Amino acid sequence: MSLNGKVALITGGAQGIGKQIAERLHKGGAQLAIADINADAAKAAAAEFSARGPKCSGYACNVADSAQVDAIVDAVVKDFGKLDILINNAGITRDGLLIRMSDEAWNAVIGINLTGAFYVLRAVARPMMKARSGVIVNIASVVALIGNPGQANYCAAKAGLIGLTKSAARELASRGIRVNAVAPGYIETAMTAKLNEEQRKAMLSTVPLGRPGTTADVAGVVCFLAGDDSSYLTGQVISICGGMAMA
Ligand code: NAI
Repeated sequence: MSLNGKVALITGGAQGIGKQIAERLHKGGAQLAIADINADAAKAAAAEFSARGPKCSGYACNVADSAQVDAIVDAVVKDFGKLDILINNAGITRDGLLIRMSDEAWNAVIGINLTGAFYVLRAVARPMMKARSGVIVNIASVVALIGNPGQANYCAAKAGLIGLTKSAARELASRGIRVNAVAPGYIETAMTAKLNEEQRKAMLSTVPLGRPGTTADVAGVVCFLAGDDSSYLTGQVISICGGMAMA
């Protein structure tokens, strides 16, 4: 897959799944803008990538703040001259049983995982529409499709992101912009390191392939969706979950 000359923006790209996606896109030849609430980590990741290939810059950005998002997208277009690919990856969990879930835990997860993803998608759609081309990949979750006790806020946000993906795909297709989502299952990152051994075993028992996913498992599918090999795919949700959910 060649992404030579493409410019990709990855939110939450400083670590975990986002960083692995950034690495794969960069290996494919793309220039990268890494936007993360952790500014130091975004800049460190950008420096690491730039040292061994195409240009890469790090940006401090809280995706839940629409003014910051608009400013970062403007800055990326100015710094790189265009924007071809968005990976809408930034996300958090604030787990808890729903009868005990605080307003704050609900609003934080919806604010970052759903509203934040909308802010970034809306901001990149403007330059992409002007260019009459673009690719957007939203990182949802398999639990949006099957539910998960203790994650009502997270499942609702990721299910909303799937609805956003399909609506945006229909609105933007005529402008040459494709919008798809992936729904990862249990992937080993800092996010899932919070699970205890019992939760980990329970989760793994539902995975037909019998192992947790890796960030590389996700990055491979995301890069396929970001490149021309998927040029006839839009509005789709691809589960990367070892068979946890089967459509
Ligand atoms: P992670 O916690 O390792 O990385 C998340 C990244 O997002 C971090 O760099 C963090 O600083 C950044 N971030 C958090 N809040 C932000 C904000 N407000 N603005 C900008 N950046 C922000 O998590 P992981 O596992 O790499 O998750 C990445 C995405 O994949 C998330 O959207 C997550 O919901 C999704 N996902 C993860 C799964 C897993 O099993 N790890 C499964 C399914 C989906």
